[in-house]
Amino acid sequence: MSTPSEVLTQRLREALAAAGLDQTRGSVMQATDTRFGDYQANAAMVLAKEHKSNPRQIAASILDKIDVSGISATPEIAGAGFLNFRLTPEFLSSALSRMANDPRLGVPTADAPRKFLIDFSSPNVAKPMHVGHIRSTILGDCIMRVARFLGHEVVADNHIGDWGTQFGKVIYGWKHFLDREALAKDAISELVRLYRTVNSLEETDESVKREAREELVKLQSGDPENLAIWKETVELSWREFEKLYALLDIRFDERLGESFYNDALAPLCDDLEKRGIATVSEGALCIFFPQIPALADKPTIIRKSDGGFLYATTDLATIVHRVETWHPDEILYVVGAPQALHFQQLFAAAEMMGLHCTLRHIAFGSILGENRKIMKTRSGENIGLADVLNEAIVRARAILSDRGDHLPPKEQEETARLIGLGAVKYAELSQNRLTDYVFSWDKLLAFEGNTAPYLQNAYVRIQSIFRKAECPPDPSAPVTLTDPAERALAVKLLQYAETVPAILDDFRPNLLANYLYELANTYHSFYEACPVLKSEPDVRASRLVLCDLTARTLSHGLGLLGIRCPSRM
Ligand code: ARG
Repeated sequence: MSTPSEVLTQRLREALAAAGLDQTRGSVMQATDTRFGDYQANAAMVLAKEHKSNPRQIAASILDKIDVSGISATPEIAGAGFLNFRLTPEFLSSALSRMANDPRLGVPTADAPRKFLIDFSSPNVAKPMHVGHIRSTILGDCIMRVARFLGHEVVADNHIGDWGTQFGKVIYGWKHFLDREALAKDAISELVRLYRTVNSLEETDESVKREAREELVKLQSGDPENLAIWKETVELSWREFEKLYALLDIRFDERLGESFYNDALAPLCDDLEKRGIATVSEGALCIFFPQIPALADKPTIIRKSDGGFLYATTDLATIVHRVETWHPDEILYVVGAPQALHFQQLFAAAEMMGLHCTLRHIAFGSILGENRKIMKTRSGENIGLADVLNEAIVRARAILSDRGDHLPPKEQEETARLIGLGAVKYAELSQNRLTDYVFSWDKLLAFEGNTAPYLQNAYVRIQSIFRKAECPPDPSAPVTLTDPAERALAVKLLQYAETVPAILDDFRPNLLANYLYELANTYHSFYEACPVLKSEPDVRASRLVLCDLTARTLSHGLGLLGIRCPSRM
């Protein structure tokens, strides 16, 4: 099934060819201002620039050749030479009927499926997940869901930070200050407490600093006692992470922490040195990038002069392993913008090593508190993901009981969970990922505005129409569009099929969130203008199809964002 923009683009290209013009200039997009039409093309303007001629004349010669039968009224030439298309009622009706009978709601699968490996979430052991990990977790999960739905293959790999200098402190703390009871209750908090205790002792006590460093060296050289402690901390942390992933309904295919690559680091460095890709400079093994101006004076160190390896070394070994094991077409790293330089260097090094795979950094900005500074707790610490999710659920519960619609307690609890978690996920996914956003509980849990509760509520209200209708909507009922509000809703619904694939163009889930928000608004205008249950049987059946398609699209689209709809709220 082709989308309106695909069909119109095809027709426009045929007309360009027939008029002796460059076909590749023809693409038809959703109109920016729907007062002038549903779709628009700027081909005449682009071609006029290239030919130094009059755009309206070129537009007229395109009009002369274009065949829009079965889809659009004769296009209109507007402004500087735009071609405006208005879909015909017949096209809209039959396309909607096809959509109503299609579980994919018209969304095509990719012509050329790719294999993605997505590196996301990737929290660090013995440290709480912080808001940066929240963004990575939610964004990565959404990109994974969208890619799979579009027919791509996805390997979700959680690159846990389970090997690093923090373990010197944690092991020292474990040996001197461990509170077993606290560990059993909340492992991550206890590990973080150990880390912080040792960190602050180190500031005044050189001997603690020395001993913590010795614990790290012992761990790295395979000391059995330290290895056992390390292993336990990793297992305990992973168990806590898993609880969060279960709550968020996120699953990984692979979970290879940094430690997994440990044995590969020394041979990798030797190999890169032998191949002349890395060179020793002031005792450290470095990769230089003279071929890339931006990196000309920014080499990356892969082995320090004391023999220690770095974040970059592990990441290079990880690419080698991933390429050999999974043969992905692309590896996506969903990691905050502050690591941009690291990934530029990493990708340049991978290229020099001849690793054949497209590597992309899917960067994102920060989450700010209401004071517009990086979000922290009152005592200045990073906010844990678990705390954010729990608070969201508590607040959603309070909102639900304030609304006074009394659901049975079990359903009320489940609904609070769907609303709270949905609100946090949507706050993330409705933003342009590169901008910093302000985290405001009141805004993200509001039932009005571009929020998850607003969209979930729109879905719920449609369900209540079906309950009142006392018979389910019939997707095979003919759709007739007479009121302008019905027509506007029809056009919007058909654009779902154009919106979902566009998410992967630049990995921007906010395109989908914004679409769903516009869909809900368009639906509300329709609902205000067009009575459903009180109209004549034919009209009622047709309008119920529109309601059904809106509800299914909202629920499906939210599902791609990792958000579920309650049936009542
Ligand atoms: N654990 C890292 C951090 O918290 C993120 C890892 C991202 N993935 C990677 N392959 N470098 O900053």
